[in-house]
Amino acid sequence: MNISARTKVCMIIGDPVEHSLSPVMHNAAYEALSIDNEFVFTAAHVLSENLEIAIKGARSLGIHGITCTIPHKVEVIRFLDEIDPIAAKIGAVNTILNKNGKLIGYNTDWIGTVTPLEEKTILEGKKVAILGAGGASRAMAYGVTERKAHLTIFNRTLENAQVIAKDFNAEASDLSDLSNLKEMDIIINSTSVGMADQADVSLVPSEFLHRDQIVFDAIYKPNMTRLLHNAQSAGAQIICGFEMLLHQGVAQFEIYTQKKAPFDVMKEVVTATL
Ligand code: ATR
Repeated sequence: MNISARTKVCMIIGDPVEHSLSPVMHNAAYEALSIDNEFVFTAAHVLSENLEIAIKGARSLGIHGITCTIPHKVEVIRFLDEIDPIAAKIGAVNTILNKNGKLIGYNTDWIGTVTPLEEKTILEGKKVAILGAGGASRAMAYGVTERKAHLTIFNRTLENAQVIAKDFNAEASDLSDLSNLKEMDIIINSTSVGMADQADVSLVPSEFLHRDQIVFDAIYKPNMTRLLHNAQSAGAQIICGFEMLLHQGVAQFEIYTQKKAPFDVMKEVVTATL
């Protein structure tokens, strides 16, 4: 143990937070770069009603990095000193850097979407469907439209999709009519449908999946969702949810440490938990 009075503290705050992989992922990376004397990463269970005081506390304690997860990514913005323009456009912050006492909010979730997709394709000109219109959807919408893809957002509540579509120059569509999913090059699920408690459910009928598509599910528990199983059976390329977690974490590591992240180590830690 190399922690000293000079060690910088980073932490993830959320409700719940106990399941978070961020501490193990970042601490393993610190160790790999032999900077585990300089940085340590922990977690704190912060309820929504305590968010303001938690940020004030973090400020007065000189916490170096504050990672935000559900339900704090939007609310936290009003307690910060500066918001990076991309995070402002997305309307959510998952990464807060304490720069000489100034709290600056960033968003790396969009990088977690774009990076694994760009390992498989060029996004420009592609037809992309995002299922869902919550917080995760906004970061994804920013990412794919920033790379000049043509985006349609499908959502159960059409109005929620319309709000995001307006902000990112995309189309909005009702989840009840998925027939033009067949024309899509890329399908991304940002809803919670398919998570462990409903692991056998997929929003996408198999008849709309085919071999020329890339199908990305943001859910990482289970690793292979029903949607991904069906996509694989149809011959599509698939991207598992842990990729998003990993790539947003890599970008976040670099903001906190100003060092290149040890990608393989972080990947090993994340995939070992699947
Ligand atoms: P996150 O911040 O992780 O994106 P969220 O903001 O709670 O989570 O958003 C959840 C998304 O999943 C929403 O788009 C929600 O649809 P509504 O806008 O209609 O609420 C979608 N969702 C959740 N459960 C769903 C279900 N059973 N069927 C279809 N969509 C669902």
